[in-house]
Amino acid sequence: MPAGPRLRVRRQEPDPSRPDRRRQRRLLALPGRGRPGPRGRRRLRLRRRRGQGRDSGRLPHGRAPSPRRRPPPAGPSRGGLDAARSQAYLVRPETERGPQAARRRAPSVRAPRHMSHAVIAATGLFTPDQSISNAELAAAYNAYAERFNADHAAEIAEGEVAELTPSSVEFIEKASGIKSRFVLDKAGVLDPARMAPNIPERADEDLSIMAEMAVAAARQAIAAWGKPVSEIGAVLCAASNMPRPYPALSIEVQQALGIDGFAFDMNVACSSATFGIKTAADFIASGSVKAVLMVNPEVCSAHLNFKDRDSHFIFGDVATAVIVESSDQAGPGGWDVLGTRLKTVFSNNIRNNFGFLNNAAPEGIGQPDKMFVQQGRKVFKDVVPMVSDMIVDHARDLGIDPATLKRMWLHQANINMNQFIGRKVLGREPTPEENVIILDEYANTSSAGSIIAFHLRQQDMAPGDTGLICSFGAGYSAGTVFVRKRG
Ligand code: COA
Repeated sequence: MPAGPRLRVRRQEPDPSRPDRRRQRRLLALPGRGRPGPRGRRRLRLRRRRGQGRDSGRLPHGRAPSPRRRPPPAGPSRGGLDAARSQAYLVRPETERGPQAARRRAPSVRAPRHMSHAVIAATGLFTPDQSISNAELAAAYNAYAERFNADHAAEIAEGEVAELTPSSVEFIEKASGIKSRFVLDKAGVLDPARMAPNIPERADEDLSIMAEMAVAAARQAIAAWGKPVSEIGAVLCAASNMPRPYPALSIEVQQALGIDGFAFDMNVACSSATFGIKTAADFIASGSVKAVLMVNPEVCSAHLNFKDRDSHFIFGDVATAVIVESSDQAGPGGWDVLGTRLKTVFSNNIRNNFGFLNNAAPEGIGQPDKMFVQQGRKVFKDVVPMVSDMIVDHARDLGIDPATLKRMWLHQANINMNQFIGRKVLGREPTPEENVIILDEYANTSSAGSIIAFHLRQQDMAPGDTGLICSFGAGYSAGTVFVRKRG
């Protein structure tokens, strides 16, 4: 007799590690019925709960049973295609064991009906119409410093107060690469008696200044997208500074644009935009919304201490907007989100102690620590290796050779930082096309910097080209978003 059929009919020896389900059912069934009745089912459920059922407790030979589901892979969570992949990974072990097994275990994690990924469909940019050059800024600071030294001449002579030394255009440009910055109010910043923008309060009934900026950038993104706002399911406002704790700025923007759904604010300092894209990508991968509007209004001139020579040149004002959409409804064009990754490591090297608790410690109100303060050198030293390694690791995990990246839209804080990171990632000196710099004109615009770069420098790229949006800053925090141009 041929061996095949005999093998097929051979009885299998009972496995002592596996309780005989049929026998259990027989024992628990009410007489005269083929399957257990309600009481029998309850007893069966109880047995399983007590750990007497299949797959529970320890095996007779002392080994623990194999886990029902493999744990998710270690390391930072991902969005976009990554998220879709890791979802599939979570549910695969259940389904791999056959439909019967999956049914028996009644998995609480269900496979999403579709595995759509996020697409960056459109972007928008609002740029204030006033700009300050380094020469204008240094002149204002020097006028302030002269006035301060004159006012404190006696204390300076006594050694009780430190004399202020002048700022210089050469230093600013060499140390940061910044040549100018856009601001909402130039006059206030350049007034040596004020050294702060003049942005009058608005009535609660009026659109707030930051909402107005965000709406302007959002309208541009929506127009480029070409779809009605009714398709947007969520609005995220991701920025370094919110004008108030509540109601959320994002909800004000949502209302101004006539968007249904929900909105919330999130603040991860300069990394807010990549954290926002990741959040949007995760919403899309989970199927909770089909399109997300993320806005990044930044009035950095209001948190910058223009009386501080070490940092008075760093920031500018701007707003950006990004529409992240599900791939299953996205039209042609845009950018596939290949993967997103976030990282945070606590540091006091960039800090701002402004907050609602200031009211409970009035002696601190108005002190320099209630604005942006940083240890620039330390930030440079800590963040450059952290971000370079993160980019290279994330690229490799996605199967991308970092040297083949066509473009990097890095956070725009300091040109030397970006050149360092660019060299480390590409393994050679990047060209100006590969490593986009817009901070010369915009300065550091916090969360908006990498998005401005992405918005302004992508039109020449071809379908299939891969690029990286990356932000980093206070926290410390960093986010990487790898994208590929769609056809
Ligand atoms: N004009 C002229 N000289 C200045 C100056 C100014 N405005 N500000 C500082 N200097 C002087 C300092 O007094 C110091 O002089 P010294 O050597 O005689 O003591 C010298 O310039 C160097 O100062 P330092 O602060 O060490 O400069 P730097 O080369 O580190 O550059 C930053 C300063 C802030 C531009 C740089 O550290 C940086 O960009 N770091 C990263 C910051 C960052 O990315 N932050 C993220 C924010 S989101």
